[in-house]
Amino acid sequence: MESIASAPGKTILFGEHAVVYGEPAIAGAVNRRATVKIKKTNNDLSILKSKDLGFEAELDTKKKTYILKKGKPGIIRYILESLSKVHNHSPIEIDLSLDIPIGSGLGSSAAVTVATLAALYQYHGKKFNKKFLAKQAHQVELKVQGIASPLDTSISTFGGLVYLSRDKRIIKFKNLLNSSFVIGYTMKYGNTGKMVKSVKALKNKYPKILNPIIKTIGEITDEAKLAIVHNDKNRLAELMNLNQGLLDSIGVNTNELSRMIYISRKYGAIGSKLTGAGGGGSIIAFCPGKENQVFRILSKYDNAIKVNFSREGVLYRTNK
Ligand code: MEV
Repeated sequence: MESIASAPGKTILFGEHAVVYGEPAIAGAVNRRATVKIKKTNNDLSILKSKDLGFEAELDTKKKTYILKKGKPGIIRYILESLSKVHNHSPIEIDLSLDIPIGSGLGSSAAVTVATLAALYQYHGKKFNKKFLAKQAHQVELKVQGIASPLDTSISTFGGLVYLSRDKRIIKFKNLLNSSFVIGYTMKYGNTGKMVKSVKALKNKYPKILNPIIKTIGEITDEAKLAIVHNDKNRLAELMNLNQGLLDSIGVNTNELSRMIYISRKYGAIGSKLTGAGGGGSIIAFCPGKENQVFRILSKYDNAIKVNFSREGVLYRTNK
């Protein structure tokens, strides 16, 4: 018997950082996924392998340790934490495929966590629903990262393009914007915890300045919600650019991100902004009809990937 689950990556369109202070955000699942297959093995220890990431490791699930046979550890801690929530330590083989580039800001860790948990519940024949799964996955992210909003794990579980309201309700848009976005990323990773702390420090230092900026980001997100509902692409793009200016003002932009933002605008993006925590990481460019052009120019100097929003959240099944 083999249990299989997959979950999508995500990208934030509006409201990063402001969401930490209760403002709304807009983010969506993308058509790039993590897939986890689990089956029984006759070895003494459990095995984790991933052709896509070029790694193989033996896992001691009782001690939550591993012996790396090949590649970089990266994502292993999310899998070990997920195992400790669900698994009974019997030896299993876990095979991970990932078509989400690590470091692209597309939420690979959340996708891997959600897919691993769903595959494990499925493997053990335990009943679960998506709400429960999203909560468990968020707990795993908190344990590994120390800091994490439930945004990534919720989107990876439920899929869709969503508005996260001030009272933390998730409202799915019918419109998926039907045009591909381009994500540009450098290999200089941003550190989410560090960036969230730096915004907090600035906010404590200049509350009268930072509080209205954070509130305005919330207003931009609300305007963007209307622009999506009315499929007003130009308005949406303008709002992305406004959001970018404010993210820059709170210190989470970098030279590299700025360069990608302006290059993408020069080559046809009508809106572009950093996405996620900043301080490195990635940008999102909205370039209806100009995706190939923007993709090519961003790939020339950095890395780029074309993505679409996707309705599909976590999927799972068992092969007998
Ligand atoms: C990081 O992807 C988004 C932030 O808003 C932090 C969070 O929501 O946990 C910067």
